[in-house]
Amino acid sequence: MNRPPWFFDEPAHAGAEHLDPAYVAAYDRKAQTDPSSDLARLQRLGLDDTSTLVDFGAGTGTFALAAAPACGRVVAVDASAAMLDMLRDRARRMGLINIDAAHSGFLTYTHQGAPADFAYSRNALHHLPDFWKSLALERVAATLRPGGIFYLRDLVYSFAPEDASRVIDGWLARAPARPEEGYTAADLATHVREEYSTYSWLLEPMIARAGFEIRDAEYPSAVFAAYTCVRR
Ligand SMILES: C[S@@+](CC[C@H](N)C(=O)[O-])C[C@H]1O[C@@H](n2cnc3c(N)ncnc32)[C@H](O)[C@@H]1O
Repeated sequence: MNRPPWFFDEPAHAGAEHLDPAYVAAYDRKAQTDPSSDLARLQRLGLDDTSTLVDFGAGTGTFALAAAPACGRVVAVDASAAMLDMLRDRARRMGLINIDAAHSGFLTYTHQGAPADFAYSRNALHHLPDFWKSLALERVAATLRPGGIFYLRDLVYSFAPEDASRVIDGWLARAPARPEEGYTAADLATHVREEYSTYSWLLEPMIARAGFEIRDAEYPSAVFAAYTCVRR
């Protein structure tokens, strides 16, 4: 597809570490993600073996692979070929045949087939600056049928600008010391300095503007948010 010269380069902003096979091989141990409560949430919202689910920024597939046995079809979209190689390998070993890996991005994924019933994204949207985030949210909406659900989890700042130093310093102070145990203070500092987490009070109007009703917003801490959104 021809793209204008000003178009955003998604792999170039996907986080260099996410493109590195050595980092990807150790990713799951570092991320320590349990997908079960997110899957249970989507099942409560109607996800079943007839549903099509698109996971944007699926990474190594922790959520997509857990969801596949409960879905009709899963598409795992990611800007990193290394992440998708790992995901495909895991899907093969698990014997899953209803999961497609799309080497693509929020801004470039084109959905084929019946519109999706569910979209999911965890800790990926912050790789896009706000201008692109709003376009990405429109593209997520375009993959879904009316009434379809988008469950978005990300690093989102729900504090006031005057509290930024206190909140960010406190977040870094609570980080584990060893990289194998999770995201260290240095990792989190890189996130704040180089990535694009948005204030909740800016992101929420963007989500609405993209064609979603926010049914539920949760703020597990001042730096994380989870949104259950319904496509209008
Ligand atoms: C922190 S990881 C999260 C992976 C997974 N969702 C999880 O929760 O473990 C962020 C993922 O987003 C992907 N990513 C970054 N920018 C992206 C974009 N514009 N479109 C799609 N995926 C992107 C990265 O390659 C990486 O796999």
